[in-house]
Amino acid sequence: MYKTHTAGELRSNNIGQAVTLAGWVHRVRDHGGVKFIDLRDRFGLVQVVANPDAGAAYQVAEDLRSEWVIQVVGEVRRRPAGNENPNLPTGEVEVVAREILVLNPSKPLPFMVSKDEDVDENLRLRYRYLDLRHERMQRNLELRHKVTLFMRQYLDGRGFLEVETPVLFKTTPEGARDYLVPSRYYPGQFYALPQSPQQLKQLLMVAGIERYFQIARCFRDEDLRGDRQPEFTQLDLEMSFVTRDDVLELVEGLFTALVPAVAPWKRLLASPWPRLTYTEAMERFGTDKPDLRFGLELSTVSDIFASSSFMVFEDTLKSGGVIKCLVVPGCAEYTRKQVDELTTFAREQGAKGLATLALAPEGVRGTAQKFISAGEVAALQERTGAKTGDLVLFVADQKPVANRALSALRLLFRDRLNLADKDVMGFAWVIDFPMFEWNEENQKWDAAHHPFTMPKLEDLPKFDTDPAGILSDAYDMVCNGYELASGSIRIHRRDIQFKIFQLLGLKDEEIQAKFGHILEAFEFGAPPHGGMAPGIDRFVMLLADEPNIREVIAFPKNQAARDVMADAPSPAEPKQLKELHIRVAEPEAEKKA
Ligand code: AMO
Ligand code: AMP
Repeated sequence: MYKTHTAGELRSNNIGQAVTLAGWVHRVRDHGGVKFIDLRDRFGLVQVVANPDAGAAYQVAEDLRSEWVIQVVGEVRRRPAGNENPNLPTGEVEVVAREILVLNPSKPLPFMVSKDEDVDENLRLRYRYLDLRHERMQRNLELRHKVTLFMRQYLDGRGFLEVETPVLFKTTPEGARDYLVPSRYYPGQFYALPQSPQQLKQLLMVAGIERYFQIARCFRDEDLRGDRQPEFTQLDLEMSFVTRDDVLELVEGLFTALVPAVAPWKRLLASPWPRLTYTEAMERFGTDKPDLRFGLELSTVSDIFASSSFMVFEDTLKSGGVIKCLVVPGCAEYTRKQVDELTTFAREQGAKGLATLALAPEGVRGTAQKFISAGEVAALQERTGAKTGDLVLFVADQKPVANRALSALRLLFRDRLNLADKDVMGFAWVIDFPMFEWNEENQKWDAAHHPFTMPKLEDLPKFDTDPAGILSDAYDMVCNGYELASGSIRIHRRDIQFKIFQLLGLKDEEIQAKFGHILEAFEFGAPPHGGMAPGIDRFVMLLADEPNIREVIAFPKNQAARDVMADAPSPAEPKQLKELHIRVAEPEAEKKA
């Protein structure tokens, strides 16, 4: 037997017992010849004492270094009075070593496991197996485990079946690039890794499963950010014979029960969760994933400045743009330099500039001051509630640009003025999304969610006249400024699905080749259905107060989409390529050289 007890479980009731422990040397200290070894395993830490009179055990203790793997046989005793450690669950006791066996030594470490140092992330990822020995990382993995376990139990209790769907499949578009897998049997043909199990779960509804879920891996080749990885995990859900509100209630119920069960230190902002339409979210917060833990809402003030002599405002309104503003409390005394920094920030977000108005006690100041009349200031205060001491920031531009810049400024002030409580989970629903977005670059309509989303039936007549005006039965679950989940009621009729593909610019043959299977399935008694998919990585990141999702994934890719531990991706053997009928084109740079 390697161990009779874990390092974390020994208490005063174990005093006098002979125990065998095994784990890692967390730290060794020498106090007047006596060796103190902190022995660590996944369940905790306990102090082991090796006295000079312990013979061979002492000799071994003298050589021990951090992260060696050892086995200790000894006796539990009470720590001498005054030496207890109240910060350690095992702090009342220690184990006096009779035998110490080295199971495996360790090379000197690239970074310490026993200390919280600021280590370069690529070094951490290169030695991820050491990084994961840190208590914080083990806590994150444990939290993640509790989250998925709770989800499984909750859904099992409500009649859901967990069904695995293939990873080698065909493109299921979610708006990113596909990862392709070449086929050895079929030269020149490829599987696509699913960007989500979207079509497969819909086909499971056609199959009569009615309530499906899966802790599903999704693959998307897209530009990485802190909240994105090329492969990530969703709680994928689908239900038959449901309306939007049935899905929202199920998911809201799940997360409302889940948070206190796994992270009792977090509070929900509101119950039931607030619901905002897409239009309302954009208007009030400038984004479809608002952080609702604080106010600082945006206001549209175009009408107040309808006859303004300020060129920037005048020109913007003439070209169909808007004037929106954000009132920052107590920042009227900002210096010129501070205001310039805000302007630079707004420009980085795409705004052409930032006009400011400081409501200082001694009078109104700012870049917009000389163009704004006393009447306009009064109307502005009336509309926005701005008071003496506040700083008003204006962006005049086309609506999407003004929204983007001001919503970024809103988050900047959230952090600068400490407006959001980090222990609050501000869950909310955003509903009534537009069905289509105009893609300027390719001059075509894109599906705002995905092409399987049901348009609002009353909007169907707008198909040929006003696609932008069609709303869909799509919904997002947002929290603290992140999109945690998306979903929709789906199309279950072949004719509507076909029409949507056509509107998205697909030719009839293309529709048949790419989506023939699902269109055909809809002709065999497809039930009405809908669902959604919360991103598990993002949710655990918020629960764990981590700044990015890499911290809650055991083996993530780095920000350049590489696995720096295994060094992947890596070249394939010529033999493998030949079998796969693949010839690698020379990279452009090499060709030129
Ligand atoms: P969507 O594409 O919005 O919807 O994804 C749902 C949720 O998955 C998470 N997510 C990601 N997490 C980490 N890295 C990524 N690259 C990444 N991309 C998405 C987010 C997001 O809200 N099939 C639909 C769902 C449905 O309609 O049922 C879908 O995948 O938390
Ligand atoms: P300009 O006319 O470019 O000298 O700008 C005059 C003031 O208006 C400066 O403070 C600019 O930062 C600000 N400004 C310029 N463009 C915009 C805009 N689109 N929205 C709000 N303020 C702007």
